[in-house]
Amino acid sequence: MPQPLTASRSTCISGRVRVPGDKSISHRALILGGLATGRTRITGLLEAEDVMATARAIAKLGASVTPENGAFDILGQGVGGLQAPDAPLDFGNSGTASRLMLGVVAGHDMRAEFTGDASLCRRPMGRVLDPLTTMGLRVEAQGEGGTLPLAVRGTGDILPIVYELPVPSAQVKSSILLAGLHAPGRTTVVEPLPTRDHTERMLRFFGAELKIEDREDGTRAITVCGDAELGGAAFSVPGDPSSAAFIVAAGLICPGSEIVVENVLMNPTRAGFFETLREMGAEIEVLEMRDEGGEPVGDLRVKAGPLRGVHVPPERAPAMIDEYPVLAVLAAFAEGETRMEGLSELKVKESDRLAATAAGLAACGVEAHVDGDDLIVRGAGAVKGGALVETHMDHRIAMAFLTLGLGASEPVTVDDVSMVATSFPGFVPLMIRLGAAFA
Ligand code: S3P
Repeated sequence: MPQPLTASRSTCISGRVRVPGDKSISHRALILGGLATGRTRITGLLEAEDVMATARAIAKLGASVTPENGAFDILGQGVGGLQAPDAPLDFGNSGTASRLMLGVVAGHDMRAEFTGDASLCRRPMGRVLDPLTTMGLRVEAQGEGGTLPLAVRGTGDILPIVYELPVPSAQVKSSILLAGLHAPGRTTVVEPLPTRDHTERMLRFFGAELKIEDREDGTRAITVCGDAELGGAAFSVPGDPSSAAFIVAAGLICPGSEIVVENVLMNPTRAGFFETLREMGAEIEVLEMRDEGGEPVGDLRVKAGPLRGVHVPPERAPAMIDEYPVLAVLAAFAEGETRMEGLSELKVKESDRLAATAAGLAACGVEAHVDGDDLIVRGAGAVKGGALVETHMDHRIAMAFLTLGLGASEPVTVDDVSMVATSFPGFVPLMIRLGAAFA
């Protein structure tokens, strides 16, 4: 049953909060823990549905995953040591979990079935199946157009490759690197623009040998040495900047607000949203930068204030790909036009986020339209609201439009808030604690 929720105009959203663990890093910590030899202890793991799908999948492949005093202990089986699952692996809503685990299964002599919810079963898998089948994975059954449900057979004799990514995708890069761990020799992925590099950082942290080359033409080549051995490690997951983005956005548009969000991941490959906010004139400061588990982390302080429209160049897209819906919401509250370019990847997320964002804004009385792969929003400094917004089973569309409702003149209802549990289960109670009005 869908669960609608209404957000109403709120002022002075204030306080100090911590966002839950980063989703991308949580998936990878579980996977590398499962592929390492010995025990890995993960603290700060995001306990959301997407990540639990990865935990269940790793456990079905024979690594034990045990909650232990607020942490998670993984007993890994070593690279190449996982066992065939005795039932289909259900990845729920998670593109990351399914694509990364295809890379893991590719390097094991096993058959596995992959399935997921209606949204995941519509998403393109060819982008990982193409390189993985070149490496030796066999696809025995697939949904129409190369989607889930899939039945695949991995191999103990996976081949190393050199692969140029046709689209900038950290999931595809990571899937190939994970398969390459088992290969005899070096596997190289060349990305057209740098995408989030958590797999690379974490592979090194767990002891794999990796070479990263930034080339003159702007591309980046990442090489992993095969026949790798990973050692179990203690790993702490920093707070998710993509979840922090909604709190920061509410703090900017609700008059009189001042919020500190602690322990937020500040990796440059994820920081495009905060860079854009500064260009929009947002009062946002990073306090106390530090290192945690090989990742930069800081506390963010944000104060409400006026914003201006900006041009967001296409090459910034990978560094803020999940933040466009909430950026578009902020653009609606800004003065002037915001043009966000090169957003074709938004069309193949949990929903077509380009269309869903433009439609939600238009319903709320904002002048917004899609021009090819670009999204143009004409901000007028204030937003009317007073609409029912369709979320299309998409957690980030739901949170973006609830955030819009907190700053709009009239209440905004989203048709279903239940999908928020895939990435940020405590979003609504946390916002209410800060003073947000939800009903
Ligand atoms: C992710 C990569 C991005 C992002 C997703 C998480 C990851 O997807 O949108 O939420 O953890 O690697 P793409 O690889 O499709 O760009």
